[in-house]
Amino acid sequence: MERHFPRPVELAPLIRFKRPEFDARKRRLAAAHTIADLRAIAKRRTPKGAFDYTDGAAEEELSLQRAREAFQEIEFHPAILRDVSRLDTGWDVLGSRVELPFGIAPTGYTRLMHSEGEVAGAGAAAAAGIPFALSTMSTTSIEEVAASTPGGRHWFQLYMWKDRERSMALLERAATAGYDSLLVTVDVPVSGFRPRDKRNGFTIPPALTAATILNAIPRPEWWFNFLTTRRLEVASLTAWNGTAAELHETMFDPGATFEDLAWIKEQWRGKLVVKGVQNLADARTLADLGMDGITLSNHGGRQLDRAPIPFHLLPDVVREVGEDLEVHLDTGIMSGADVVAAIATGAKFTMVGRAYLYGLMAGGREGVDRAIAILKGEIERTMRLLGVASLEELNPGHVTQLRRISPR
Ligand SMILES: Cc1cc2nc3c(=O)[nH]c(=O)nc-3n(C[C@H](O)[C@H](O)[C@H](O)COP(=O)(O)O)c2cc1C
Repeated sequence: MERHFPRPVELAPLIRFKRPEFDARKRRLAAAHTIADLRAIAKRRTPKGAFDYTDGAAEEELSLQRAREAFQEIEFHPAILRDVSRLDTGWDVLGSRVELPFGIAPTGYTRLMHSEGEVAGAGAAAAAGIPFALSTMSTTSIEEVAASTPGGRHWFQLYMWKDRERSMALLERAATAGYDSLLVTVDVPVSGFRPRDKRNGFTIPPALTAATILNAIPRPEWWFNFLTTRRLEVASLTAWNGTAAELHETMFDPGATFEDLAWIKEQWRGKLVVKGVQNLADARTLADLGMDGITLSNHGGRQLDRAPIPFHLLPDVVREVGEDLEVHLDTGIMSGADVVAAIATGAKFTMVGRAYLYGLMAGGREGVDRAIAILKGEIERTMRLLGVASLEELNPGHVTQLRRISPR
């Protein structure tokens, strides 16, 4: 083999020193290429109690684990030589256009994950042209979120609260602030049991104990933000004087029935979606009651453990009620390919909870922008590789399950 000494003209084109990025947040986020990467950053930067509250699920966490596995265990079936130079990743959901087929799921206590909280989520969602759903248990109020993103699309989530007067007041505020759709969460007759929270001695707001103080040492930014920003509280219920635990006790109502849902429907003039549906018969009943949509969801595995996998319910539910209402889906979505699989299987829309919160914990608003950009890139790439140029072209033929628990 002949050798020669490299000449500078040969070396020059190979040298690619990057301009150093002095903004630590930007540097961190640029190194995240998947939602799992964002999760790893989030874990390093967030106190254990808050991280586990977000990352954890109920009991043995099987509902969440299985929901994620169900997405991993699919096989995509691409078609070749389709013109995918132009791509449309949007369509109409609940009466108006979304630019991507996913939105941000309602999550409680979001300023606990990062002090920029719901405003970061709503801002990033608006910039991407997707809806942001605000939880009843939000730490930024209905009005503040609306005012922070005037051009954004906002949905409001309500629990089946026995306190009709208070529910009514919240609905009125959401309607006045321009929220166009209501998600009524029905899978919380009682709070799920999350062992990680118990083991961590987790409370809201977090308590300063020897363990939390030790855990805080490598995470100074989170604590600095937490201690120098507005007190953590359920912001739309500021008149509430009790503790968070007492609030949960009244809010999660084991006595709620379809009659209460019918009452809520009477009070709300916008679109109404029932979140947390887990079987075919309930889906049918809700379609007959004239709901606009349902979300197949087991609350991200945070309620009943070993619950049905929403993605597995999807084909039968779409066949049964897909003509009558919109079928949405959440739980376990960690990639844009999961979103594409759900849309191909018949979902009209999907929502992401943790995927958004990992981004938020990794880097506030810019972290949520990054999470959405990662999911968007994955959606676009998966669609093109499947040979489809629009969501309408996706169909059940594009996805099969490698393994499925039977019977359906
Ligand atoms: C930290 C956290 C808080 C949540 N709080 C609420 C809530 O207040 N109301 C609600 O309807 N769902 C809540 N959820 C459930 C989400 O709306 C959504 O169903 C779930 O996160 C979807 O699963 P995923 O996290 O795997 O995407 C919460 C989820 C998480 C992770």
